[in-house]
Amino acid sequence: MSYYQRHIFFCLNQRVNGESSCGDVGAKEGFDHCKARVKAAGLSGAGQVRVNKAGCLDRCAGGPVAVVYPEGTWYTFIDNADIDEIVDSHLLKGEVVERLVLPPSVGR
Ligand code: FES
Repeated sequence: MSYYQRHIFFCLNQRVNGESSCGDVGAKEGFDHCKARVKAAGLSGAGQVRVNKAGCLDRCAGGPVAVVYPEGTWYTFIDNADIDEIVDSHLLKGEVVERLVLPPSVGR
């Protein structure tokens, strides 16, 4: 049994060299909203869900991106409604939100 039932990592990388990064396209807003939603739903803590920051996950072309473990499901999102759906479906019930899944071909 792992310490957390699920773990979601958000890339919050912010490049300063002119190349695009998740930090330019709403990553922090998505992370903050997810963290607040998980806490409000009483899902945070041992045996439940952990929401974590990450550096570049090397899938920048699909940014902003987040990945959920243990399933290893990669998501892209646009707004808080997308985050709500990931929380309500995947983090709460284990149901993948197919419409937000990052295609396997998307890389850096
Ligand atoms: S900058 Fe987010 S995956 Fe690379």
